[in-house]
Amino acid sequence: MAVTRAVALGCGHYLPERVVENAEFEKLVDTTDEWIRARSGIERRHFAAEGQKTSDLAIEAAKMALENAGLTGADIDAVVLATATPDQTFPSTATRVQAALGTGEHGFAFDIQAVCAGFVFALANATALIASGQARRVMVIGAETFSRIMDWNDRTTSVLFGDGAGAIILGAEEGSGEATDRGVLSTILRSDGRFNDLLYVDGGVSTTQTAGVLKMQGREVFKHAVQKLAVAGEEALERAHLDVSDVTWVVPHQANMRIIKATAAKIGIPMEKIIVTVQDHGNTSAASIPLALSVANQEGRFKPGDLLLMEAIGGGLTWGAATLRW
Ligand code: UT7
Repeated sequence: MAVTRAVALGCGHYLPERVVENAEFEKLVDTTDEWIRARSGIERRHFAAEGQKTSDLAIEAAKMALENAGLTGADIDAVVLATATPDQTFPSTATRVQAALGTGEHGFAFDIQAVCAGFVFALANATALIASGQARRVMVIGAETFSRIMDWNDRTTSVLFGDGAGAIILGAEEGSGEATDRGVLSTILRSDGRFNDLLYVDGGVSTTQTAGVLKMQGREVFKHAVQKLAVAGEEALERAHLDVSDVTWVVPHQANMRIIKATAAKIGIPMEKIIVTVQDHGNTSAASIPLALSVANQEGRFKPGDLLLMEAIGGGLTWGAATLRW
């Protein structure tokens, strides 16, 4: 049966100039480069410059995606931006990006808040907007400045996160409805609010009237991550009538190399098929998947017809997975 698919038209990314190596944290807290590498796989991360906002990162990533797709801002109907670190409480960061891209008056823009799983939620929403005919071309962005919500005295969190942005443009294309179609083939979205306390920010508009800092029970999140990501990944494949052997590339959320490896082993996918950027970016929350996607695309790793599996988990807990044929 003919269906409207959301196919990838181009992607882009942006990383702030400042690179912070693990060794810099040895001066701040009781940690070592060896511990950070061994426990997380992270070697360095980028931090936004003073005054550089989430929207600034997002706009650069979006511009690169437009160039990659051979499109202009006027070709975009909607901007869907996943972030947990918006410029302001309101208006949405997405509307700032929309204005900068010059999408004109025909479209719309909004933010999505699902923390580190935000990109998968944004992708699912953008796909639904295209399938329903609400929009024909959607700029899907993950952009974060987690350096703004770090407790620099907390060694269990401050060494793990980074800033950055990634973007992918999805466009409507008629498909056959089969798993051989290009585009997003399935999405799985999940959350369980009973686990709010495992990963949260201790501030907010209606509680403290401050932005707050990130708090995490890392070991607990780790256990949930491997189990929930593996199940969501398998469900995404099943929903698309695909098998684990059909997967060309996994583009996972880049939180921890050990989570990436353990999840790949649980699903049964060899490490050669996993895109890994955590060593250079740290955990950039909602930006991590589109960042990894665009870096891999720039390296020419994806070929038309490749099947990509994406999966992410974050505060909420909130998690999900998606399949996309390149
Ligand atoms: O993106 C959203 C989802 N988030 C995640 O997926 C993160 C999930 N969690 C993790 O990635 C890992 O749990 C961490 C990297 C956060 C921690 O690794 P771990 O192997 O789970 O370590 P742990 O929390 O069990 O801590 C082991 C030890 C502790 O010391 P004791 O209690 O054994 O004496 C910590 O206090 O390591 C200590 N530790 C540190 N030592 C040096 C914690 N942070 C540090 C540090 N440097 N930065």
